[in-house]
Amino acid sequence: MIKILAIESSCDETSASVCSEGNILSNIIATQEIHKKYGGVVPELASRAHMQKIVPVVQEALSVAETALSEIDAIAFTKTPGLIGALLVGAEFAKSLSLALDVPLIGVHHMQAHVLANLIEDSKPAFPFLCLTVSGGHTQIVLCHSPTKLEVIGTTIDDAVGEAFDKTAKMIGLPYPGGPLIDKYAKNGNPFAYKFPEPKIDALDFSFSGIKTAILYFLQNAGKSTVYKENSNVSDEEKQNFIDKNLNDICASVQHSLIKILLKKLLKASEQTGIKEICIAGGVSANSYLRSEFKKLGETQGWRTFIPAFQYCTDNAAMIAITAYYKFLNNEFSLLSEVPAARSDW
Ligand code: KG4
Ligand code: ZN
Repeated sequence: MIKILAIESSCDETSASVCSEGNILSNIIATQEIHKKYGGVVPELASRAHMQKIVPVVQEALSVAETALSEIDAIAFTKTPGLIGALLVGAEFAKSLSLALDVPLIGVHHMQAHVLANLIEDSKPAFPFLCLTVSGGHTQIVLCHSPTKLEVIGTTIDDAVGEAFDKTAKMIGLPYPGGPLIDKYAKNGNPFAYKFPEPKIDALDFSFSGIKTAILYFLQNAGKSTVYKENSNVSDEEKQNFIDKNLNDICASVQHSLIKILLKKLLKASEQTGIKEICIAGGVSANSYLRSEFKKLGETQGWRTFIPAFQYCTDNAAMIAITAYYKFLNNEFSLLSEVPAARSDW
């Protein structure tokens, strides 16, 4: 029985998980509330909060899993990508434990882990499968040949889709992180009330900066246009009234436009590769509209579709643990001299 203790600390969630032979026994997530009042994650505050939370979170993960430290066979941590100060806290903690317990260390790529969150539950995709990974920092289509051989076949050339959700929410005046709030208000809105321009990007890549700018002008023009108007005579009061009166429709229309871009490229990827085992992953895969539209599309295309449970979509250590388990089986271990990186390819 291989037992792994995994730590995730790449952004504003301090998380620890224990898995046994690929079965998740615990997944404790402490979300840092301190960033709310700043409208976004403040890197130094994130590092400090990780320092405060990491010991109790690890202790709770062991306790819920009814596992003693002496039973752990390997320590896993997120090595990249993320906020460097935040990554360092998890990495140093993991290294110290690995040294003290004399067990191997396994550094995990956060984006690989989001994809492999689809291998946590009993119903798993068969290889090769495609995964649309959508988070606050990434938007990727990944071709998964095996748990440890992944290939990015499409990516964003500018912003990530989660960023487009969060920035739109900020423009509307909603608190950080705005993605889940857009999802909430959109439930009572008309997704076809307003139209936003679609990016014209080749291949399987994405772009969200154009639509983000169109949304900005749309709000500045109180819904009358999505293009910049130099002498726009719309008052702040008029803008605010427009947002207040049409909040649900604005959220539903923005959400619909963003999700449409994602699913179009996913369809193209399936057609190009001939693969019909399709997953989604990452924080934005918690979006209820994406989940239902993805399922609908899958039914029309004869896909087998997979979506991780909610707690495995946004940042969590269970996905680090499952990835570490497959790396363990493949003898992929890290040196104690391993240094995390804010950015890195697989
Ligand atoms: O994967 P994640 O937790 O962290 C990163 O690795 O970035 O993703 C966070 C992103 C944020 O942009 C957040 O607004 C978005 O996921 N998100 C959502 C929803 N839940 C989380 N976006 C839209 N609808 C949701 N329900
Ligand atoms: Zn993430």
